[in-house]
Amino acid sequence: MSDFLLEVEDLEVHFRSSSSVAKAVNGVSFTLNKKETLGIVGESGSGKSVTATALLRLIPNPPGKIAGGRILFEGKDILALSEKEMRSIRGNEISMIFQDPMTSLNPVFTVGNQIIESIRTHRKVSKKEAKKAAIEMLQLVGIPEAEKRMDMYPHEFSGGMRQRVMIAIALACNPKLLIADEPTTALDVTVQAQILDLMRHLQDTIDTSIIMITHDLGVVWEMCDQVIVMYAGNTVESGDVKTIFDRPLHPYTWGLLDSQITSDSENEEKLSTIPGTPPDLREPIPGCHFADRCPYAQEVCFSKKPELIEVEEGHTVSCHFQTKEKRLKRKEKAYHG
Ligand SMILES: Nc1ncnc2c1ncn2[C@@H]1O[C@H](COP(=O)(O)OP(=O)(O)O)[C@@H](O)[C@H]1O
Ligand SMILES: [Mg+2]
Repeated sequence: MSDFLLEVEDLEVHFRSSSSVAKAVNGVSFTLNKKETLGIVGESGSGKSVTATALLRLIPNPPGKIAGGRILFEGKDILALSEKEMRSIRGNEISMIFQDPMTSLNPVFTVGNQIIESIRTHRKVSKKEAKKAAIEMLQLVGIPEAEKRMDMYPHEFSGGMRQRVMIAIALACNPKLLIADEPTTALDVTVQAQILDLMRHLQDTIDTSIIMITHDLGVVWEMCDQVIVMYAGNTVESGDVKTIFDRPLHPYTWGLLDSQITSDSENEEKLSTIPGTPPDLREPIPGCHFADRCPYAQEVCFSKKPELIEVEEGHTVSCHFQTKEKRLKRKEKAYHG
């Protein structure tokens, strides 16, 4: 058996409509070690959430379907498990935090009740023990006066406090893997920093592996060991965080980095974004999915799909012009427009 906690191989997820099939995830592969944090980064619509949802086998079917690939969790073939076995994995061994905590907390139950429920669904403990554990969880995620707040309702909490509650619920059962899908996107910058601090602290305290989904490379830099960059259902680049920031190679990653740098600066510089929009995933795309928006694209990029190749140890990229032998040079201001 391998040492990986999670191995994903060639994952494909399709969404069918009456007249077409959208290939939302189109052959994504990655591995995750124990205690490691993997970042999945990419613009909105690139397939990050669908990838995460597939890991828990929660793709709505119909219209969605895991159309191919393999997901091994501790060597267990997730796609071959029964629904009952899957239920015992969800929330127990793998749990997920969603972008908007308001949609995942139930407004009619107190926060305390929801944590207690979640603990008792997964562990055989008395109500009293579960309550004690729930208070401890709230304290762990930095909620002041935890005991008093157990009796409050979600709407009585601020956005940041609700997200802390979601993290508490997700961690209540000591999951081996925590998937955080844009956990700070709905929060303002200060609260966002606090939540990230909290997650880093928790990771030091408990031995959970994390998949951190974000469109923000700053979050990846602060939180992750490994990163995969997704675009239009494909991995375009992957490697350890230092390599990706030191030597990014895919023009799409360059575009993401450029838009990050200018959006952080306080001067008047124009915010750079990558011009254009992602392709329609219902249409066949013969070449590179990014070609339409790539300032470096040549003829071959529109006719032939580049393979994801390892250009140096642990660093993969799918671009016709980035191989072991040849390197494309990054232009300054390629994306300013
Ligand atoms: N339930 C669904 N039905 C149809 N298409 C979907 C569904 N969920 C996601 N998709 C499509 O899958 C693609 C990837 O979406 P998603 O994974 O949510 O992107 P993101 O990277 O922003 O998380 C998008 O084109 C989206 O429209
Ligand atoms: Mg998403």
